Amino acid sequence: MDLIFGRNKKEQPEPVRAKVTGEVVYRSQYLRSDTYSANIEANRIVVSEFGTMAYPDPCKNIFSKAFSYLSHTIPDFTDNCLINIMKCGEDFYATTETNYVRKINPQTLETLEKVDYRKYVAVNLATSHPHYDEVGNVLNMGTSIVDKGKTKYVMFKIPATVPEDKKKGKSPWKHTEVFCTIPSRSLLSPSYYHSFGVTENYVVFLEQPFKLDILKMATAYIRGVSWASCLSFHKEDKTYIHIVDQRTRKPVPTRFYTDAMVVFHHVNAYEEDGCILFDVIAYEDSSLYQLFYLANLNQDFEENSRLTSVPTLRRFAVPLHVDQNAEVGSNLIKVASTTATAVKDKDDQVYCQPELLYEGLELPRINYAHNGKPYRYIFSAEVQWSPIPTKIIKYDILTKSSLKWGEECCWPAEPLFVPTPGAEAEDDGVILSAIVSTDPQKLPFLLILDARSFTELARASVDADMHLDLHGLFVPAADGDTGTQPPVEEQRDEASQGDEAPQT
Ligand SMILES: [Fe+2]
Repeated sequence: MDLIFGRNKKEQPEPVRAKVTGEVVYRSQYLRSDTYSANIEANRIVVSEFGTMAYPDPCKNIFSKAFSYLSHTIPDFTDNCLINIMKCGEDFYATTETNYVRKINPQTLETLEKVDYRKYVAVNLATSHPHYDEVGNVLNMGTSIVDKGKTKYVMFKIPATVPEDKKKGKSPWKHTEVFCTIPSRSLLSPSYYHSFGVTENYVVFLEQPFKLDILKMATAYIRGVSWASCLSFHKEDKTYIHIVDQRTRKPVPTRFYTDAMVVFHHVNAYEEDGCILFDVIAYEDSSLYQLFYLANLNQDFEENSRLTSVPTLRRFAVPLHVDQNAEVGSNLIKVASTTATAVKDKDDQVYCQPELLYEGLELPRINYAHNGKPYRYIFSAEVQWSPIPTKIIKYDILTKSSLKWGEECCWPAEPLFVPTPGAEAEDDGVILSAIVSTDPQKLPFLLILDARSFTELARASVDADMHLDLHGLFVPAADGDTGTQPPVEEQRDEASQGDEAPQT
């Protein structure tokens, strides 16, 4: 007691660096996908990707290969799962946007089995941005192309656990169920989409005029073009807003639409005063996608990758109950918190115009405990006319103000919010971002910010090659548990666990 209370302590006016107990370690490994193995074996790219058209071994009969492609409307897609990490039950999967995902061991980064969505649900493409409910059930969307003469968007659920009344030990995948289907407006040119939104009772899906041309895709091989060139933006067209009621599992009948736009990322959505408010990052054109061509990545990317439209944060408002007697031309939105409008149009259609919240951000993240619920903060990368992020931002929707972190020569990855255990405030936690540098003298590092003040708490530099990550960060569950905790000596930078496969 004397040691603690017996005398006054000396002042320490100068900051003294604390000795930190614990360890941050870094680990990375290319996903050993079938695509990776085939390319390594051939020592060149032999599997086509969205931005890369590969050709088979010239010693083989090129025409027989082409005919085999034509015999199937949809070519077999890549399993180069380089976009994100998904958790199904207790397992982690590297994901892309095709019908394949690859199970991985998050501790050793070992590549495990390939899972084909088509075994469990009829989709040829599926998003890399599923949603999770409180118990970890997965809700995702995919596109079923020309199946039994129809092309449709399919919402499906993969349960976190095998139901009690079923046999134990079986994979949750076998209990995947179709939640709702929405017919595509076009059989041969369905909409491309990268994510979707959920509220507590609804799902928000944008059928945008950024479309995949199936006939072009089926013949891409013999025409020698990549699949990215099979996507086209129709700026004269509309964007249709589909709202699905999770309780009835049916789309809301009102036809909502807005102007043509290209959206990759939904930020969040929630219900307020009889409306759904949903926030997206939107572009005026599809220039972002052009940057994913391998040819463009090989050039001086920074110089040659100017966007022709800045990504903007837009808030839409959709009325859940449309008064049939409302006058054509009247605004159906009475919510005070937004200037977004939904104007009654002829033929019972509703034309939605968004509120512009912020210009110049991408890779949005939120405190996922607020997913589908009212929320205030967006954590994202700052992206202006170049897609390369130079800062990370905390945007406050309520005050419309922002805090930023940036440093010279530093390219930050998507910022991940990790809540303080037991936190109540939405921004009580830390931000993690993996930073790479264009300065060869500067090591890449894991940045840790106080999510409330956006001040730096710590950085952990690593003497290793590190790729700039886009996604690949896993969202911890609401209780902060990622499901698996490696022992201290094997702890790794979660930002690095995503696949870093060598192609786009
Ligand atoms: Fe994404």
